[in-house]
Amino acid sequence: MKKIILVFTVLLIIVGCNSPKNYSGKLSVIDLKVDSILSLMTLEEKIGQMNQYNGFWDLTGPAPNEGDAANKYNHLKQGLVGSMLNVRGVEDVIKVQKIAVEETRLGIPLIIGFDVVHGYETQSPIPLAESASWDLETIKKSAEMAAKEAAAAGINWTFAPMVDISRDARWGRVMEGAGEDAYLGSLIAKARIEGFQGDDLSKSNTIAACAKHFAGYGFAESGRDYNTVDVGTSTLYNTIFPPFKASVDAGVRTFMNSFNELNGIPATGNKFLQRDILKGKWNFDGFMVSDWGSIMEMIAHGHAKDKKHAAELAVNAGSDMDMESYVYVNELKTLIDEGKVNVTLIDDAVKRILKVKFELGLFDNPYRYCDLEREKEIIGSKEMHDAALDMAKKSIVLLKNDNDLLPLKKTGQKIALIGALASDKNSPLGSWRIAAKDNSAVSVLEGMQQYNENELVYAKGTDVSIGTHNFASEVKINTTDKSEFKKAISVARKADVVVLVLGEVGFQSGEARSRTELGLPGLQQELLEEIYKVNKNIVLVLNNGRPLAITWADKYISSIVEAWQLGSQSGNAIAQVLYGDYNPSGKLPMSFPRNVGQVPIYYNYKNTGRPGPKKEVFWSHYQDEKNSPLYPFGYGLSYTTFKYDNLQVSNVNNNKVNVSVQISNSGDVKGKEVVQLYIRDEVASVTRPVKELKGFELVELKPKEAKTIEFVLTDKELGFYNNEGAFIVEPGTFKVFVGGSSDKTLDADFEL
Ligand code: BGC
Repeated sequence: MKKIILVFTVLLIIVGCNSPKNYSGKLSVIDLKVDSILSLMTLEEKIGQMNQYNGFWDLTGPAPNEGDAANKYNHLKQGLVGSMLNVRGVEDVIKVQKIAVEETRLGIPLIIGFDVVHGYETQSPIPLAESASWDLETIKKSAEMAAKEAAAAGINWTFAPMVDISRDARWGRVMEGAGEDAYLGSLIAKARIEGFQGDDLSKSNTIAACAKHFAGYGFAESGRDYNTVDVGTSTLYNTIFPPFKASVDAGVRTFMNSFNELNGIPATGNKFLQRDILKGKWNFDGFMVSDWGSIMEMIAHGHAKDKKHAAELAVNAGSDMDMESYVYVNELKTLIDEGKVNVTLIDDAVKRILKVKFELGLFDNPYRYCDLEREKEIIGSKEMHDAALDMAKKSIVLLKNDNDLLPLKKTGQKIALIGALASDKNSPLGSWRIAAKDNSAVSVLEGMQQYNENELVYAKGTDVSIGTHNFASEVKINTTDKSEFKKAISVARKADVVVLVLGEVGFQSGEARSRTELGLPGLQQELLEEIYKVNKNIVLVLNNGRPLAITWADKYISSIVEAWQLGSQSGNAIAQVLYGDYNPSGKLPMSFPRNVGQVPIYYNYKNTGRPGPKKEVFWSHYQDEKNSPLYPFGYGLSYTTFKYDNLQVSNVNNNKVNVSVQISNSGDVKGKEVVQLYIRDEVASVTRPVKELKGFELVELKPKEAKTIEFVLTDKELGFYNNEGAFIVEPGTFKVFVGGSSDKTLDADFEL
């Protein structure tokens, strides 16, 4: 460290400035500092910076003497580790950082990574739920709070946001993304990155973000996690890439590659993705970390013949940091000696990593995130929980309310609350909740108990799962035990209204949590039907991490609320919506299928040569089910109603189009609506979807209030990527649609 400080002092005198926040790629003070450190480093030390280890020994005990942990410990002491993940808490971070800073030759600080996916200890809603708010400011705030809480625990880098678009609800990781649409997904990616990183990465309450998983991970065949991805060029450029490109434009400092292969080449060893597109065309100047063990997994993919070959492929393709494959630290030097890897690639990777460390302020003070007082004050504070509650309310989507059972009356009602998920304090935390305390969420039962002028009776009905499970174990679903049915039916029979909370337990979605069925798991469908026989006044509250196929419920149950997994404040948010203290305003970020056989299903499909509906047989359809989803993308109701009128298109010139529409609140209560604009390019050299979201605005209106909403469409919205990856705008006829859902819209034409 001493040597480094000396070099900096000289440098600072020369350039006269010490805190540039310049991500533009120009040679900044940071670049000069990076170069000067690089000149001091041995090849081994450089390779060390590219090596990331998982938290490895019991940090409170003595250092390990043998085995894998001892090797890692020794590497850390020798300056052969650049980053660690899953070390958390100020005390533990100080312990590892101290070794890096005080015991290694150059004292280069570690960057400490963690999956701060939707909160650190305080959980906000799962990202798919947050996306249902379409509220970019609140989503940004949620990421800002997560960064603040994680930074207070010594963390300075999150492996988030996941910006993978997915159209397949079978894939468990849809819970972690922004849904099926690239336009919405890009704006949400930007909001999250700005929230995590703030306007100055060196502040001690901001952390570096990571756009993942580059690329195509959300298109795993048949929705099975880690599975092969084989997509066409047009989908790659127009659907998969845009949120990643938006992340670069938002200044994201790191990327993570993905487990899947893309068109035959694993993403981790994919030069086209990492060097040509990301670092080449998009000029990304941060660094790329591999996914967990993904470099080594190229052997199983059948792409690398052994570990050494895997390291060679990954580094040449542009993977800068090795997460837990141990192949860079063990193989790169030999590969360089043998001339299989050029040392300039190592220098480039190390520069990128050091640059981010500088931007985080780690060289100024490696312990800048390590303040025990701050940790106590911020983690789990009221500020965190208030923000989580606000985000949770805004994430809820009202799917049905035919008989106006909702909002519930606040007095004089006998309410039966049924379902194991209603009292579950774990499931609302989702599956990415490593730092959350077990059973710490407010349950629906607890939330509803606060409205104490009604009589509330709770019955479990049926367990969703059997026994306990965690991040690393399979969830066993209860398919046999109906012993609690009877009690629930009897409680329901005597109630004025039944609130049934059904869905998935927290660990049923997330990584490696694919499903082939999308109905209510286990015995819950049967329970629902039994309850319906004795009481038709049912409000179904869904807790789930993915779109579900609830066709029976849609037919028979008059009120349905999509409440996802809403995090630490889940029960409070749900109760406030059920009782009308918050008027739901969420809109679905993913289509809900009628039947798993429709999946992948998405609103922005292509028309095909045989669109329908037609009376004859030979058109693109199913014999046994409609083509349309049960609930489309962009759909969601409110306790009030909105009316759209007077769609106007004007000023079509210079590839600029003005669109306006009048929206009014035609109901009796104040409410928020997401006004959505879609376009269709009728004829194009590469066919365009039947509809594409290109604008939206969240408006709040009092009863009878009306507003005119204006949109401007420019080249950015009107163009698309052709199959050479060039962005083009083609003249011709366009349709524009505006409304409160992708399927209910006013429309007009214009000529470009
Ligand atoms: C996941 C990543 C995650 C990493 C580290 C992997 O299994 O795919 O998204 O960031 O683990 O926890």
